Amino acid sequence: MKTDKIIIYGSQYGSAEKYAKELSKRIGYDCIRYEDVEDINAYSTIIYVGSLYAGGVQGMKKTLKKLSSVENKKIVIATVGLADPTDKENIESIRANMRRQLSGEVYEKAEIFHLRGAIDYSKISFLHKKMMGLLCKKAANLPEEKKNAEVRAMLETYNKQVDFIDFDTLKPILEMLCANNYTSVLNDPFRQHIVL
Ligand SMILES: Cc1cc2nc3c(=O)[nH]c(=O)nc-3n(C[C@H](O)[C@H](O)[C@H](O)COP(=O)(O)O)c2cc1C
Repeated sequence: MKTDKIIIYGSQYGSAEKYAKELSKRIGYDCIRYEDVEDINAYSTIIYVGSLYAGGVQGMKKTLKKLSSVENKKIVIATVGLADPTDKENIESIRANMRRQLSGEVYEKAEIFHLRGAIDYSKISFLHKKMMGLLCKKAANLPEEKKNAEVRAMLETYNKQVDFIDFDTLKPILEMLCANNYTSVLNDPFRQHIVL
């Protein structure tokens, strides 16, 4: 069934995809890759889940810049990164970057959340490995007080396999969706399975 509510994800190695698919399972919206979006304007509720790469949210700018108007739209964006998403400074830095990637009206309209992802250095591309190697080399020489959450996460996880994916952290998103009636799930007798 085609609906006007959608979860879109931008993911290179699967963390953002896992969160997006779990959300889809819980609220019943369809879930698609950003590369497969045909017409973003066809949706009234858009939940975008994108992984962070050097501050950019995978696919977000490209996808949301095609929105012709935010009027009557509900926009939710969840970022997925390695740095601690409860760290105030990290949140500020992610949001400052998002502000540069989005139009003012989309940024103002969006409800924004931050989730923690995963990395497996044995599986990432040669280019990504090289990039992280260079960044870590530089970061390791920073004085301790200059090592923010992003730098610390990068150094602590370098060349390792770590997985911080935690579906319980979807709770604030689910609560917001329920509180704002963004979902018809609660009114749909066949979909009363929303899991908070
Ligand atoms: C080249 C590169 C750059 C990254 N940049 C960031 C970043 O700026 N902030 C962050 O929190 N995590 C960063 N990460 C970590 C990823 O966001 C994290 O591994 C995420 O879970 C990947 O999502 P995906 O599996 O959906 O692609 C970076 C990882 C790589 C390989």
